[in-house]
Amino acid sequence: MRDAATTQTARTDRRAAPALSVRGFTKTYAGGFTAVRDLDLEVPDGAFFGLLGPNGAGKTTLIGAVTNLVRPTDGEIQIFGHHHDTREARRLVGLAEQDINLDRFLNVDEVLIYHAGFFGMGRAHARRRAKELMEVFDLSAKAKVRPTALSGGMRRRLLFARAVMHEPRLLILDEPTAGVDVELRTELWEYTRRLHEIGTTILLTTHYLEEAEALCEEIALIRGGRIIARDSADGLRERYGARDIAEVYLQAMAQAAEAERQAVTA
Ligand SMILES: Nc1ncnc2c1ncn2[C@@H]1O[C@H](COP(=O)(O)OP(=O)(O)OP(=O)(O)O)[C@@H](O)[C@H]1O
Ligand SMILES: [Mg+2]
Repeated sequence: MRDAATTQTARTDRRAAPALSVRGFTKTYAGGFTAVRDLDLEVPDGAFFGLLGPNGAGKTTLIGAVTNLVRPTDGEIQIFGHHHDTREARRLVGLAEQDINLDRFLNVDEVLIYHAGFFGMGRAHARRRAKELMEVFDLSAKAKVRPTALSGGMRRRLLFARAVMHEPRLLILDEPTAGVDVELRTELWEYTRRLHEIGTTILLTTHYLEEAEALCEEIALIRGGRIIARDSADGLRERYGARDIAEVYLQAMAQAAEAERQAVTA
């Protein structure tokens, strides 16, 4: 992969507003199940932030609300100070979804160019950027192929390329490396790290705790739709007297499970 710094403008325009501010977010799905309850979360501008938690914890629900795929039941969500469903906020966020969701009737280059169109990027600029990103993600040979004719790892790469197409200031990666081979995982992380170095805020969910530990400056642990701990990786290790984030995770989840049991029997 080529150096990301050459394909994306470095950001020096730090603003006071956090990249993401979530206040009192609650989501009750149709049918009455409350997946997330009264959740507060702030991700500072420029952070590399990890959101970790078990299956069903509410990570994708939260990300869905931030990116307007899920309608909040309650709460206030802002992106760099803009209400999350405004045009300004939408332009500032890029999302690589957990579920691979690519238009099967478009070629690889069209997937990228059409996406740019949603964000008001001119056609010539979009073509240039698509070409650059296809090179970065080693997809140039597949430019005229439909996503259905790509391998799983290639689809993940395309999803990633689409997420960064409009140069978002906040990049949200929902399990971007699930089912991805070791080599590609390493490359995706290197690319993400370089985006972070040039000022992009990263919000990441992953079940690979050692990767979260290596990458994230701050981590929130979520369980049952609630944040149960949030600190720097060092702060968490210290608080739980743990050697690594995997140990922190297991302890925090066990404590939360015990508290839930006590609440039920009380
Ligand atoms: N459309 C929906 N309707 C009803 N319930 C839903 C819907 N989407 C998600 N849920 C429920 O909300 C809870 C949280 O799901 P979510 O996808 O946010 O979890 P997650 O933390 O992303 O988990 P994973 O690690 O498995 O991706 C789960 O219990 C799930 O079944
Ligand atoms: Mg999820």
